[in-house]
Amino acid sequence: MVVSRAAKRIWLTGATSGIGRALALRLLDQGHLVALSARSEPALRALCRGRANAIAVPLDITDRASVIAAGQNLADLLGHLDLAILNAGTCEYLEHGQLDTALVERVFAVNFFGSLHCIEAALPLLRRAREQGKHPQLAATSSAAAYLALPRAEAYGASKAALSHFLESLRLDLAPQGISVSLIHPGFVDTPLTKRNDFPMPARISAEAAAKAIIGGLERRRLDIHFPRRFTIGLRLLGLLPPSLRFQLGKRLVRQPATEN
Ligand SMILES: NC(=O)c1ccc[n+]([C@@H]2O[C@H](COP(=O)([O-])OP(=O)(O)OC[C@H]3O[C@@H](n4cnc5c(N)ncnc54)[C@H](OP(=O)(O)O)[C@@H]3O)[C@@H](O)[C@H]2O)c1
Repeated sequence: MVVSRAAKRIWLTGATSGIGRALALRLLDQGHLVALSARSEPALRALCRGRANAIAVPLDITDRASVIAAGQNLADLLGHLDLAILNAGTCEYLEHGQLDTALVERVFAVNFFGSLHCIEAALPLLRRAREQGKHPQLAATSSAAAYLALPRAEAYGASKAALSHFLESLRLDLAPQGISVSLIHPGFVDTPLTKRNDFPMPARISAEAAAKAIIGGLERRRLDIHFPRRFTIGLRLLGLLPPSLRFQLGKRLVRQPATEN
């Protein structure tokens, strides 16, 4: 396939559903050469069908060996990466402060350690782009939940806060190597992930609107791509309040256990 000089070589994880799928369709329509990853091979093949610039790279990001093998595959297929968007993620909530360590480990395995495996696989290919005089970008989808501790979000919020913190540190260390790092902090987006939520989701936007905001932010090389801003700016301001005030406000969101009659 002939790829135009303006087309970027991109790796996108979590490409088969929700925000990732909307991102995949938009990036492919823009003519970029996009390697698409998720666990479901049939869903990846369906997404690639009829699109010469789409490549399916199935993997489970919790399996380090599978991600490293995928990195080798990407090296063979693409040579280098201009942009890696690590978007795959999951969400599970704790109920009423009942600690479930297995649940917390499951969420961290995907959101934190899975993203780390992908960074490990992507970095050599981003460095190759730099060696060719390009300006490679690493981006990861965290969450606005990383800005503020919320009830039931012990596992999800902590996994995303850890991811954001890790990447903010990495950004400092990669800057001298010419690799820029963007963090994506979405508010509520209408996807299969949030369809499971049984609570009000203020300022929820469509996956297409989220993809548009992400690609716009990446084009401007924003360090923190957050949206919808009316929601995320509010959360960030709440996060700046003294702990006692945050506690008083946060307590109002706690759900009481259902009482038996
Ligand atoms: N929706 C929101 O309101 C919202 C808000 C803030 C942040 N986010 C974050 O945005 C990202 C995308 O969320 P979404 O709402 O679009 O979720 P989604 O519709 O559930 O999509 C998740 C994607 O990740 C893939 N995935 C999940 N586990 C994986 C694994 N172990 N290995 C490889 N791929 C895996 C899924 O494909 P397979 O199942 O085939 O693997 C799917 O393509 C996540 O990181 C999420 O935490 C979402």
